[in-house]
Amino acid sequence: MSSPRTSDVLVIGGGIIGLVTAWRAAQRGFATAVADPAPGGGAAQVAAGMLAAVTELHHGEQTLLGLNLASARRYPEFAAELTELTGHDLGYRRCGTLAVALDSDDRAHLRELHALQRQSGLESEWLSGRECRRLEPMLAPGVRGGLRVDGDHQIDPRRLTAALVAACELAGVAFHRVRAERLSVVGERATGVVTSDGTALAAGQVVLAGGSLSGRLAGVPQHVLPPVRPVKGQVLRLTVPPRHAPFLNRTVRAVVRGSQVYLVPRENGELVVGATSEELGWDTTVTAGGVYELLRDAHELVPGITELPLTETRAGLRPGSPDNAPLLGPTELAGLLLATGHYRNGVLLTPVTGDAMAHALATGELPDEARPFTPRRFGAAALSEQPA
Ligand code: GLY
Repeated sequence: MSSPRTSDVLVIGGGIIGLVTAWRAAQRGFATAVADPAPGGGAAQVAAGMLAAVTELHHGEQTLLGLNLASARRYPEFAAELTELTGHDLGYRRCGTLAVALDSDDRAHLRELHALQRQSGLESEWLSGRECRRLEPMLAPGVRGGLRVDGDHQIDPRRLTAALVAACELAGVAFHRVRAERLSVVGERATGVVTSDGTALAAGQVVLAGGSLSGRLAGVPQHVLPPVRPVKGQVLRLTVPPRHAPFLNRTVRAVVRGSQVYLVPRENGELVVGATSEELGWDTTVTAGGVYELLRDAHELVPGITELPLTETRAGLRPGSPDNAPLLGPTELAGLLLATGHYRNGVLLTPVTGDAMAHALATGELPDEARPFTPRRFGAAALSEQPA
């Protein structure tokens, strides 16, 4: 049976953010469709899946912290609901995170992060190098200290995505496996899309959730086009053979010579090492330089990784926004909503995004916790109100 060409809600993009939006919309009783040539793809296929609200805290991102924490709090219930519905194990692991320093510059940086975490009321414990190695014996002898954050967890984004596709199917979401090429606008209202095979899909409300591609959809009026850009991340996957297990007990991360490196151990033996951060447009080439830097930095932290099989190298595109925070909810164009710009936090923000978007679709308003993330903050009116 072909999918209906008219729906209440049409979501453009079947990555995790589009899928969670479609699932939650369908649960609210909206006839919902997703347009994507390959639903379940996107940046989540590359992401490591750290739920790192505390260890990825940055100066100037206090508002985003509130949303990150709200989503982290929702994860246990969200994961349980998805697993119960679909039977999928999501690899949700409450293993905690250890952020370590290798030299005095790194240690000064971590001390600053610790101070910011404490000012923000977050739980994080300073450990000596020896205490870090007691927790993680594979760490290099040169580790100078670290922060133990038991509240930063992880999930397997590939399993999460597969579960969201299954949940959408169970909730009756229709999948159009084709690219949305142009937004249809009639009068002052978005009314659907035209796809790459020329089909017109009509909808009462359209949600643009195309990740880093969201700013490129034809037909979107300039004043509502989301200001997102691709930020490339190269990521490696290694395998821990049973004789080496447990290699690491928790996520281990550091800033090495100014670059982030993290090692995320899954219960199934996968060890994810990420990630570069490169502003190179749409390029997704895995480069020798990217792999070299990740392995070099990871090896400084955990020398034993050179023994492990390297099973995958991949690059993805984070959807970066001007303030590193997502764009959620209604735009100045009636009928068009956004769910994009999640940058480094797409996996973490999946539960709260689904809830906020379903609320916005049902009421026309964002819930309080998501209001600061309105796309209108980048509109001409908002920008002209800012002090020069
Ligand atoms: N949140 C991890 C990353 O974006 O690399």
